[in-house]
Amino acid sequence: MKRLLLIIALFAALLLGAYPLLRNSRIGSCIAYGFAGWRAVATDRSERFLGKVTEDTARCRGGEAAVQWRKTPWIDWPQYFSAGDEQSRYFGLSDKLSFLSPNHRGINGALLDLEYQRIELLKFNLFDNSGTYEGYVRGQKAPTGNAPRSWPQFRLPAEHPGFAAAGPDASQECAGEMIRFRTLTGICNDILNPLMGAVDQPFARNSEFEATYPELFQDGIVKNRHGDRLDLLKPDPQVISRKLFTRRQSSPVACDDELARNSAAGECDYQKANHLNVLAAFWVQFMTHDWFSHLEEGRNQPELTAMGCGSRRDGDIETALTPNEIIELGCRPGDRIDKSLVAEAGPAPSFALNGERKLGRAPRTTSNKVTAWWDASQIYGYNETSWRRVKRDPRDPAKLMLASSSADDAAQRYLPILQKADPQNPQWAGQEAVAFPDNWNIGLSFFHNVFAREHNLFVEAFRRQAVADSEADSGLRHPNRPHEVITNKNITADELFEIARLVVSAEIAKIHTIEWTTQMLYNEPVYLAMNANWSGLLRDYPLVSAALEQALHRLAGSASARKSTEWYSAFAAGPGIFGLGNRGADVNGGVHHFGSPFNFPEEFINVYRLHPMVPDVIELRDLKRDPNGIAARVAVGSMLRAKATAAMRRHGLANWALSLGRQRLGVLTLHNHPRFLQNLAMPRLNSITGKIDVLALDILRDRERGIPRYNEFRRQFGLKQLTSFDDFIDPRLPPSSRDRAEQQQTVALLRQLYGQHRCDEAKIITRAQKNEDGTPINDCLGRSAGSMVDNIEDLDALVGWLAEFVRPHGFAISETQFQVFILNASRRLFSDRFLTSSFRPEFYTHFGIKWVNENGPAGKIIENVRSNGHPIDVSPLKRVLLRTIPELKGELAPVINVFDPWARDRGKHYSLHWKPRPGAETDVAFKDNQ
Ligand code: HEM
Repeated sequence: MKRLLLIIALFAALLLGAYPLLRNSRIGSCIAYGFAGWRAVATDRSERFLGKVTEDTARCRGGEAAVQWRKTPWIDWPQYFSAGDEQSRYFGLSDKLSFLSPNHRGINGALLDLEYQRIELLKFNLFDNSGTYEGYVRGQKAPTGNAPRSWPQFRLPAEHPGFAAAGPDASQECAGEMIRFRTLTGICNDILNPLMGAVDQPFARNSEFEATYPELFQDGIVKNRHGDRLDLLKPDPQVISRKLFTRRQSSPVACDDELARNSAAGECDYQKANHLNVLAAFWVQFMTHDWFSHLEEGRNQPELTAMGCGSRRDGDIETALTPNEIIELGCRPGDRIDKSLVAEAGPAPSFALNGERKLGRAPRTTSNKVTAWWDASQIYGYNETSWRRVKRDPRDPAKLMLASSSADDAAQRYLPILQKADPQNPQWAGQEAVAFPDNWNIGLSFFHNVFAREHNLFVEAFRRQAVADSEADSGLRHPNRPHEVITNKNITADELFEIARLVVSAEIAKIHTIEWTTQMLYNEPVYLAMNANWSGLLRDYPLVSAALEQALHRLAGSASARKSTEWYSAFAAGPGIFGLGNRGADVNGGVHHFGSPFNFPEEFINVYRLHPMVPDVIELRDLKRDPNGIAARVAVGSMLRAKATAAMRRHGLANWALSLGRQRLGVLTLHNHPRFLQNLAMPRLNSITGKIDVLALDILRDRERGIPRYNEFRRQFGLKQLTSFDDFIDPRLPPSSRDRAEQQQTVALLRQLYGQHRCDEAKIITRAQKNEDGTPINDCLGRSAGSMVDNIEDLDALVGWLAEFVRPHGFAISETQFQVFILNASRRLFSDRFLTSSFRPEFYTHFGIKWVNENGPAGKIIENVRSNGHPIDVSPLKRVLLRTIPELKGELAPVINVFDPWARDRGKHYSLHWKPRPGAETDVAFKDNQ
């Protein structure tokens, strides 16, 4: 032992002695990094981490490439060792050093950076719009005390039918029937805050209220930032759409509007993401319909408003478009859209804090018209109206109604079609009957049918085991009689329906967290982070987890609300289904709102505007005839609404699964939006054109809802600002490369569309961050006083994040969008009782818990190949598809992640190459190998 200590001491002395010589080497930097200790979490928003590390840290975790990267505005961790594909891994002697090896340093460093980002996001980016904000900030300043866990704003009002049951006294608490299952309107998920996350609650914000609505609320700083340059139609949304969004196609004529409506054999090419299929695009639309909607029954306000195609910008002056320019652009001045619904538009309350006036809510608010919970409300409903569209099987009301599509194929069961008596908009006639029917298309039809089948398969499997063991304890309990065992045979059809809803919702949440997200953000750090998010970092260490829980409870009483929130967020690292505080009698004890009530923020909706992922044409395949061939090309625009339903039944779930599973989705970037969405027919509006440009509408809606423009958006989220449009160009590209030339062209276009102005050094433009030397950021963004600067402050957030050519390896989205996900993806798990402390047999039954944890009834099944070095379970969505569409058995056998194109060879470590797997060499999609 003594000898070992001596050797360690000698080694340390040697290293310290040699340190001056090693100073700028990787070893020297690692020593300096090791001695520097942990970075302190920022106490003020202007001192945030920004995803940038010191030179030593960068060198130790990623070598000289990472050191160089520090000069860019982009986050550092994607440059660390092993954070990318095979090329990013370090192979050498030091690779054998276990956790000290470069690859481990890289991955652990990336995870640490992600954790810092999350802690700071939870600390600085929660802004609730329902009246709790003043209490929240005052609480944050207090030296001790728990973060609040309940708020009077979320009490049920006296006229609510559940008022008496929740207890009309000051501290309402949901009980009995109200807390057993997911409720229709989302009330009582959090027992102490009945209305939180329920339908019609205000969307929250992740940006300071003062930074929202830059077109409307102009205090001195906002005025300094944007001058008079902003307006709902400035710069013109349709001009932006036509110049920056239009998909570049080899033969645009073959893909014109007529073709999109009538369907045919056009090419309609698009930039394709090699590692993601079209299922991934429609999956996320299916998800968003569960989480949020600004529209009520597919409608906004009755009043119509213009959508642009009126002017262009010259420098910083707006000039009217000439008729010729309009023809050339292909936009439509006659397009009209219904104005956004607004919840509160009166003057926002304000209060004084440390000599400053703060807004108590955003200048305007809007409401979430569905529940904010991950409760599959797009399937099961979110209010009385949507519930009337959800059909239950009259022969077994525990099931959803599924009808045979034709007399000769009784096994092929599909959702029924909306009936005349069902609540509906005229444009929905002929579609499948589901709770959320808007913007119906072939992908939504696919997922709704799949999960309706899954619901019924769960019910059937439950009934089978209940018959086999009818007297067994199901695990279910009634909260009013918690000690009374409910046996399998005593579970009613209504209870079983609700249990199936719980199970299906949890499966969906699991698929999204560990299957969709890890493919959308395809690299090792995110794979590890998302699995920890779902299962908890300490899932394999229950004793440590229990001890930590105790420590956190003690800390919560003695430290400030801010401190305990930091600790909780770091160590719980996503409570997932096994998170902290989930044991014991308290079925609400594991939820954590970080002192601010949960709902999605408007900024979250902005980053989910993912329309470029949708192709214009689907390549239809035939599973029985030849999976490798394309039988027909069908325009997505020709399969909307009732036509999607007809197409689903004509070709069947299996062929659509194969087609959407093999085809690649569109890269999320500029010049890659679907043409059919620029020309979407909207007869309900009765406007002159009867059409809208959905992509121009994306811009307009963000402005109507006060999304900060791009640079301030980044500063608000703790990312570095850009100082000119040139910053978008990937600095790694050789000067003469074609890609660089293309990026330069895009930058020139941004400059033309958004303009430039002569800057004024005296104008301070933000409160969110400071310059590195601690001085305020001014209008010149570090350039000399009076020089011409790009109007990068005016860039719409959506345009900005689509222009991010620089992305972490395998990221389908940009780093700016990802920052918003880090925060909200964690929160929607932490805040949901049914995914934390009520994820237990008393609510789900033993059978239900096992189904979610083991991805179905047959126990855990492990893939016989590893995925990027990890042994993995057969994925949850693969198991769902194998159950609901058994014809896919052969096709799915080699598939590891359902969102990876089914015929792609996944190759080595997080490869993005486009080459066929064995057996799919003849697939025509690989013909050009592009
Ligand atoms: C055929 C495919 C699609 C069609 C026809 C479609 C159509 C539309 C339309 C018309 C709107 C505007 C609603 C309004 O504000 O008045 C919209 C909004 C939106 N779309 Fe799509 N969309 C499609 C696919 C997608 C996909 C794949 C995503 C991916 C997430 C997506 C995400 C969104 C989001 C986040 C909004 C804003 C919703 C809100 O404000 O509540 N859409 N879409």
